[in-house]
Amino acid sequence: MIKSSFNRNSKYISIKKLSFFDKVDRNWEKAWQNNVTPWETNKHSPPLEELFNKNILDFKFVPNNNYTALVPGCGSGHDCLLLSKLGFSNVIGCDLSETAVQLCSKLIIDNPEYKGKVDFIPCDFFQTDKLPKFDFIFDYLFFAAIDKPSRQLWAKSMKNHIKDSGYLTTLMFPYNSDDQANLNPDGPPYEVSLACYKNVLEPLGFELIYNEKVIDSILLFTIYYFKITYALIILT
Ligand SMILES: C[S@@+](CC[C@H](N)C(=O)[O-])C[C@H]1O[C@@H](n2cnc3c(N)ncnc32)[C@H](O)[C@@H]1O
Repeated sequence: MIKSSFNRNSKYISIKKLSFFDKVDRNWEKAWQNNVTPWETNKHSPPLEELFNKNILDFKFVPNNNYTALVPGCGSGHDCLLLSKLGFSNVIGCDLSETAVQLCSKLIIDNPEYKGKVDFIPCDFFQTDKLPKFDFIFDYLFFAAIDKPSRQLWAKSMKNHIKDSGYLTTLMFPYNSDDQANLNPDGPPYEVSLACYKNVLEPLGFELIYNEKVIDSILLFTIYYFKITYALIILT
């Protein structure tokens, strides 16, 4: 969808590409209520499963391990079920949208083996005091869903909710490999480069310990992702 505007003092017509989000007045609850959720695949993110199959992260998934995981902006909650299946004792998904959280609750009703292991909380990740600190946080299409001015708040909230020895893993999409590129400002999803993450995370004490290009197929988007894992080092 394209919106054009004409400034009578200018000779130029400016053209702005509208995102799916404009159709729902840039409101996440309205997007979920109206089923305007073009990112939705109704399954977990395959690269997340691959990451754990490679045993890169320092988790020993013995029974009753007490490892905790969080998915902020969890949407319909499928990645939370995967993290539980992989071995995390307690998994929490949070989302701003009550409708999304209701869908997540239905997912548990349909998959009762996750009852008591995975919980969903309706909340604004940037404002909540309902969440503790976690061993693992997974971000997919959450950083890319928020506008640029909110990114520092995103990083601060990540720091507030990760344990000192915890890992923050993000699956970057839509990814631009050029850190100097003029990124497309239209979104969501907002185009991201590695520098977008480094700029907000490294001043807070996060260290990049791993990155890898992964391939996934998702209906609406192109197929290359870039995955980075941050380990938190010193926090004062
Ligand atoms: C593009 S969707 C991605 C959903 C999910 N991570 C996935 O990959 O399917 C972004 C999600 O973030 C949620 N969201 C946006 N702002 C939020 C906030 N401040 N706190 C919690 N959730 C938020 C939206 O409601 C939406 O479900």
